[in-house]
Amino acid sequence: MADAQIRRAKALFLMFAGAISLMLLVLGLYNLVAFTDSVGFCGTLCHDVMYPQYTAYQASPHSRVACAHCHVGSGADYLVRSKVTGIPLIFSTLTDSYERPIPTPVRNLRPARDTCEQCHRPERFAGDLVRVRTTFLTDETNTEVTDARVLKVGGGQDEVARDIHWHIAANVWFVSQDAKRQEIDWVGVEGAGGYTREYIDPAATGGLTPAQINSEKRLMDCIDCHNRATHIFRSPEYLVDAAMVEGTIDKSLPFIKKEITDILYPAQPSLEQANAALEQIKDFYRVKYPQIYNTKQAAIDKSITEAKNVARLTTFPHMQVTWETYGNNAAHQESPGCFRCHGKLVEKTAAGTGPTIDVSCDLCHVELSQPLK
Ligand code: HEC
Ligand code: HEC
Ligand code: HEC
Ligand code: HEC
Ligand code: HEC
Repeated sequence: MADAQIRRAKALFLMFAGAISLMLLVLGLYNLVAFTDSVGFCGTLCHDVMYPQYTAYQASPHSRVACAHCHVGSGADYLVRSKVTGIPLIFSTLTDSYERPIPTPVRNLRPARDTCEQCHRPERFAGDLVRVRTTFLTDETNTEVTDARVLKVGGGQDEVARDIHWHIAANVWFVSQDAKRQEIDWVGVEGAGGYTREYIDPAATGGLTPAQINSEKRLMDCIDCHNRATHIFRSPEYLVDAAMVEGTIDKSLPFIKKEITDILYPAQPSLEQANAALEQIKDFYRVKYPQIYNTKQAAIDKSITEAKNVARLTTFPHMQVTWETYGNNAAHQESPGCFRCHGKLVEKTAAGTGPTIDVSCDLCHVELSQPLK
């Protein structure tokens, strides 16, 4: 009798404890999920690992968009998947065994159409963008050079879509066999009942079999161009020019562009060293331009402070990341970008090969002969 009572008490206790721990577990998991989705978790807990991405993100147009909006999106399925695939990353962070720099492209990133299109609607894109770029030479007067071009962004749906965002309305498939998707071997534009046009790399030997194409093809989406939508690693030169336009770096200071960029190229071994070197710009003015040193102290100090900010956005020795680590696919200057296909692949025809994908300079942008002033 005492035995049965004890057993019942035990069972009751276990049930009670079980319910409590289940509740705690659910609550805990919920909080963990919410916590690991917060910008703080991604950027701070993995402070070291993702520091470059976090820093670039904070200075980007998406700085108010939570990491999970692009990396997870909505829906339970991807939430679970991203957490599961995140576990090796957390583990490698703890054991300090992660890859430096973090490899890209992100293999299991959710299709951009599910995430970007929560906010951007490609069918609503229309028209052109005017981009004005002001740069400064490294001479004594920091000579200003301005050029402006109209980017034909275009857009629209299916039949009427045109220009740069045509790739999104059309179904453009491609095969790339290198991990960074920089070498493109095959492109197919899908229409009713198959590929209406196919393009191949004339320099490649052999060619891909239909089976290889089928198993390796990827539907081109936003991040095949906008891979740097938010982790935009700008060069020191770009950032210094921008600060000079803004006025945070005073363009009336002789040789200011040269003084700063001489220090920031190549990247300094550490941010502390970059900051210390930038401080010495004061000595340059004290020795070479005493008059300016005496009358423009505040402007010199402010310019040095801003130059340190440029160093902060470009110096990530711990992760072996510089502004050159992650190429931007939405351009063609510093990495192949658009020229992975344009000017490289040729159309496949019944007779053999046809014309190369257009690379004329006015296909994508038109230079304005009279820069806006
Ligand atoms: C506007 C969308 C967006 C937001 C917001 C965003 N990311 Fe990303 N992120 C991307 C895309 C797109 C890529 C993939 C680039 C590729 O695959 O080539 C990426 C790639 C990465 C990479 C891989 C390395 C690299 O630079 O390609 C890391 C690490 C990363 N993101 C971390 C973060 C963290 C941490 C946050 C929040 C502080 C965040 N991301 C917020 C879109 C975003
Ligand atoms: C939660 C909403 C949201 C999501 C998700 C989002 N964006 Fe944006 N995006 C914005 C907003 C808002 C701006 C405008 C910011 C500004 O002008 O200050 C913007 C701006 C942009 C711009 C223009 C940047 C520039 O230099 O002017 C591009 C390109 C872009 N987004 C691409 C993407 C891509 C690609 C993705 C998916 C990987 C994405 N966005 C996901 C809200 C979002
Ligand atoms: C073929 C490459 C390519 C693809 C694919 C692509 N874009 Fe773009 N997009 C560009 C270029 C180039 C620009 C203009 C320059 C820039 O902003 O980088 C641009 C501009 C934009 C802008 C800024 C428009 C403005 O008026 O400010 C947004 C937002 C944008 N794209 C979102 C997207 C989204 C969302 C997708 C996927 C549904 C997408 N893009 C697919 C190349 C592409
Ligand atoms: C994966 C290959 C690929 C990449 C990468 C690519 N394109 Fe294209 N693009 C094509 C193909 C294929 C066509 C169609 C060519 C034809 O009609 O002969 C095309 C057509 C175009 C057109 C003409 C669209 C129209 O109005 O008919 C423009 C503009 C364009 N691309 C701009 C860009 C820009 C800008 C980039 C880089 C941000 C880019 N492309 C990257 C494959 C690519
Ligand atoms: C397939 C599309 C495409 C073609 C063809 C093309 N460009 Fe571009 N170009 C771009 C894009 C996209 C950008 C980036 C624009 C931006 O982000 O502001 C760019 C940027 C540039 C810039 C840099 C502007 C700057 O501010 O840094 C120059 C210069 C340029 N292109 C010259 C050329 C020349 C010369 C040709 C002909 C050989 C050419 N482009 C052909 C798409 C193209």
